[in-house]
Formats: sequence, structure tokens, C-alpha cells
Amino acid sequence: MYRTHTCGQLRASDAGKKVTLAGWVQRSRKLGGMTFIDLRDRYGITQLVVKADAPAELVETANSLGREFVIQATGEVVERESKNAKMDTGDIEIQLDSINILNKSVTPPFTIEDNSDGGEDLRAKYRYLDLRRNPLQRALKIRHNIAIEIRNYLDSQNFMEIETPYLIKSTPEGARDFVVPSRMNPGTFYALPQSPQTFKQLLMVAGYDRYFQIVRCFRDEDLRADRQPEFTQIDCEMSFVEQEDVLNTFEGMMRTLFKKIVNVDIPNPIPRMSWYDAMDKYGSDKPDIRFGMEIHDITAQTKGFGFSVFDSAEYIGSIAVPGAASYTRKELDQLTEWVKRPQVGAKGLVYIKLNEDGTVKSSVDKFYTPEQIQAIVAAAEAKKGDLVLILCGAKRKAQTMLGVLRIEMGNRLGYRDPKVFAPLWVVDFPLFEWDDETNRFYAMHHPFTAPKPEHLDWYYSDKKEDLERVCANAYDFVLNGTELGGGSIRIHEAAMQERMFEILGITKEEADYKFGFIINAFKFGAPPHGGLAFGFDRVCALFGGQETIRDYIAFPKNNQGRDVMIDAPSQIDQVQMDELFIQSTFKPEE
Ligand code: AMO
Repeated sequence: MYRTHTCGQLRASDAGKKVTLAGWVQRSRKLGGMTFIDLRDRYGITQLVVKADAPAELVETANSLGREFVIQATGEVVERESKNAKMDTGDIEIQLDSINILNKSVTPPFTIEDNSDGGEDLRAKYRYLDLRRNPLQRALKIRHNIAIEIRNYLDSQNFMEIETPYLIKSTPEGARDFVVPSRMNPGTFYALPQSPQTFKQLLMVAGYDRYFQIVRCFRDEDLRADRQPEFTQIDCEMSFVEQEDVLNTFEGMMRTLFKKIVNVDIPNPIPRMSWYDAMDKYGSDKPDIRFGMEIHDITAQTKGFGFSVFDSAEYIGSIAVPGAASYTRKELDQLTEWVKRPQVGAKGLVYIKLNEDGTVKSSVDKFYTPEQIQAIVAAAEAKKGDLVLILCGAKRKAQTMLGVLRIEMGNRLGYRDPKVFAPLWVVDFPLFEWDDETNRFYAMHHPFTAPKPEHLDWYYSDKKEDLERVCANAYDFVLNGTELGGGSIRIHEAAMQERMFEILGITKEEADYKFGFIINAFKFGAPPHGGLAFGFDRVCALFGGQETIRDYIAFPKNNQGRDVMIDAPSQIDQVQMDELFIQSTFKPEE
């Protein structure tokens, strides 16, 4: 046996025991003829001591140790004179009588400390060293614990975990596919699944009425803090259910996770908000409801008074930012520049300051009488000390910009405490989104999502305005402004599915080519079914109090979709290309 205990295990009650530990040298220092070594493994750190009167060979070995050397050390547990309350093992140290160097280490390129001196790129290149650090070890442990709890909960509810293939055909999630050329079928390609969507529906046809899978998904899309090209879903599907059954089942799962992982009791029931309210009040389909600062429609109070920017706008909306009336001219100019960035996309920003002394100052004083300004302030539900921020434009676009501004102001005011959890179901999504450019409807979720039963008349209507009103039997689970999961009740009848393809402008041939297998399967007795998928990485990050999922994935990709540690993606050799009958047309710029 290499070790009798881990580096996080020994306490004062172990004093007198002879023990052997193994691990990495965190640091070593000489003090008054003695050598102190901090030995680390994933369970903790234990202090080792080599006394001044120890055999010369042992002293020499102790003094030769460098950072990250792997050693095995044997000695006696003794209670420390000066205890360290900050360490779990701070009451004891090990007085060594032997050190066995198991492996040396070159000097690591950054410090293996909670706050490392290594930059992000360097740490990504040496991810295996970064993973030795506590914050990452804690993150992966949370991930492991959450996975166990999910499996236990779903197993207790009769769900079966069933694997589905990775080499498949394009799935209907709307991102770009990663594709894999087939050697045995020259000229053809598999697509990696963007989700197991079609397979889980086939499992319902096959009678596995409660399925789940903690499964890797692949999407070739632009990356952000909460997006990776390969990520993991907690993917679920159930038969013989309505929306209410699905929501209840997964509220149960989330409630269990919150309790077991972070010991938090979430609201029961979890509040629900329609997509329309979410957009109108929060300018987002994933509202952060930890704070108010809601959006107000002030079109009636601002349009038609001679200010041409507002007079030509479809919609004018506001938020009232508490305590921000004290913003200086310079700060307001900076905020105006901020909303003009392409990420927000506003053309300008109008403000009204409600100073604490009762005076009002606005950037549009010359267009409105003081009474009219008061009416705007009242509609914006602003109080003394508030700064009213106003944006205008096409309704949903302006609301979305206000939503982004609201989050920014929430961050600035410290309203977004990661230790506060505000879950929410967003329901009643529109089934379709109209796109002016291509002059057609798109499915807001995916083309297997069922319309709400009470909207079937509109669904079968030929009028655009009726179709725009159809709500989907779809739902998203939102936590603190992040979409953690989403799903829907599916269409299980051929006629309703055909109507969906018709509305989306998908021809019968195209539908057969893309989804023929599932349309066909539905002819053999498909049960009513529905489900959802949670982003597992996002669940882990939020429980860990972070917005970025990268630290919760052992080997993530960077923002360019690269793994800089293994240097992927990379070129393949000509023989491999020839075998696959592929040729690259890429020409690197000179
Ligand atoms: P959807 O596309 O909403 O639904 O995905 C479900 C959840 O997966 C997470 N997610 C991601 N996480 C990290 N990186 C990404 N690139 C990424 N993309 C999505 C999100 C999201 O809420 N088949 C449907 C589910 C269903 O209808 O049952 C689906 O995949 O947290």
C-alpha cells in the first residue's frame, strides 16, 4: 500500500499513530534547522516535519524536494504546538522518519494555489495542472455529486437510463452540426447529435415510458461563458403525460438537488411566467427575478409630443434604477456608449433623474413640459433617487435591449448574488417565430413541439395573425437569468405533424428525407409524450455559484472551440483524407 491515510484525514485524535502519506509537495520551507513540507492530495494538505536532528540523509532528501514532486512519507502523527485553525489537519503534523521520492517534477508553469498566478491560456494548456487546484477539484466534485443525485432521483421515479448513438443524422435543434465522414460509405457523413431528441421520442414509441440519459451533445455555434461545443444534458422523456406532469416531476428533481447539494429550499411551487410577461417585464425569455427593476411600457406618455426619435418608434420602454440619480454626466455618457455597443444595439439612451431633493433633470427636457415628464416618471414607476433609463425601437427588440441594460444595472448594484436562487418556469411560448427576411415561420422550439390544445383552431387556420398567436406546449426552466433547461409536449399524431411541416414550409420530400424514420415510427402507435433536457454543465456551475461552465468540465474548449492542451482540432494526414474521399479547400491567408 502506498498510503495509510489521505492528506485530509488526520486529526489530533490520531496522535501517536505511525502513518504513511503520498501526494504532491505543495511547498517546503526551512525554519530553525527544521524542514516543513506541505503535502497535498485531493483530500487536503498535511504538514510534514523533518527535525534538525533527523538522519542527515533524510534532511538532505527533505531539502531537495521541489514543488509538485510526488513523494511517499512515513512518520508519527504529533499534535502541533501552534495549531492552524484554517486547515482541517491544522492540529497535527507528521514527524517524518522516511521520505521516498516517487517522482520528480519540473517546475510547474504557474502556482498550484487557489489563486494561481497563471493566466487563462497557460492554465488551459496545462489543464492537468490546473485541475490539481482546489477550486477546480471542488467544481468537479459538485458535478459528480449532482450526477449521483440525479440518477438516484430519476431511478426512484422509475426512469431508465438508456444510451443513444453519437453517429447519427442531423437533429432538429437549430444549430450547425458537427459532421463525421464515413469511410465505409464514401461521400456520406454522420452528424453528431445536437441532442438525443429523435431517439428519445423513438424510445417512447418503443414503450420505455420514462427515459433519461446524462448525455454529451454537440453543437457548432458561437461560444459564450455558458456555451461549449460539446456539453452535457440531463435528457428526459415521459409517455402518457401532460405539461403539468412533466413540470411536477422535474420540479421534484430540482427541489431534491437544491436541498441535497446546497441545502436550499426553493419556492414550492416554483413560480411560472408566460413568455409574453417575461418579454414585457424583463425583456428576456430567461428573466432574472432575483430583483425587480421591471420594464414599463411608456409609449403612451412619450410618443406624439414632438420628439422625433420617439414619435417614429413602435415602442418606448423604461427601467427605473434605484439610487442611480446620482450618476454624473460622464457616467451617463459612458452608459450611453455602453448601450450603443453592438452587443446591445441601441441607437441612444434617454434618461430622467429624480434627484433626492425633488428636482428632476432629463436629457429630453426641451420636448416635454414638467407635467408631461411627471407623467412619464409615474408610468415608469420611479421613486426619488431613481434614474429612469429609456430606450425605443421595434417592441421586442427594444424590450430585449432594456433587458440587457437591466441585467447590467443589476450587476452594478450588486443585485445578482450567486448565493440567492430564484428558479422560474417560463411557459406559453409562441409556437412560431416569423422571419421577415425569409418571409416564413420558424419553430421557436423544434418542429415536434405540440401546440396548446386550446389553440388548435388557430393552428389549423391559414391566417398569419392566427398562427402568430398559437402558444406551444413548451416550457423552460430558468434560474437567475440562465436557461437551465427546456422541453415540450410533442406532437404524436401524423396529421398534426404534417400540418407543422406545412406551416414551416418543409415539403413532404424534405420531411421524409430528414425525419422519415420518426414520421414512420409514429404510424405504429406512438403514445402521447413529452419531456425536457437540462444543461448539466449549467446546473453544476449555478450550484457552484458561477456563470461560466468551463470550470465544471474537466477538459473544456476555449472560445475558439479549441482544446489547446491536446491541440485540437488539427489537420489530418493525406492518407486519412484519401480514405475518406475528402479534400480541403481551405487556403490559409499569406
Ligand atoms: P435545448 O436546445 O433547449 O433543448 O437544450 C437544453 C439545455 O441544454 C443547455 N445547452 C447548452 N449548454 C452548454 N452549451 C451549449 N452549447 C448548450 N446548448 C444548450 C441549456 C438548454 O436549456 N431536445 C431539446 C430538449 C427537449 O425538448 O426535450 C433540447 O435540446 O441549458
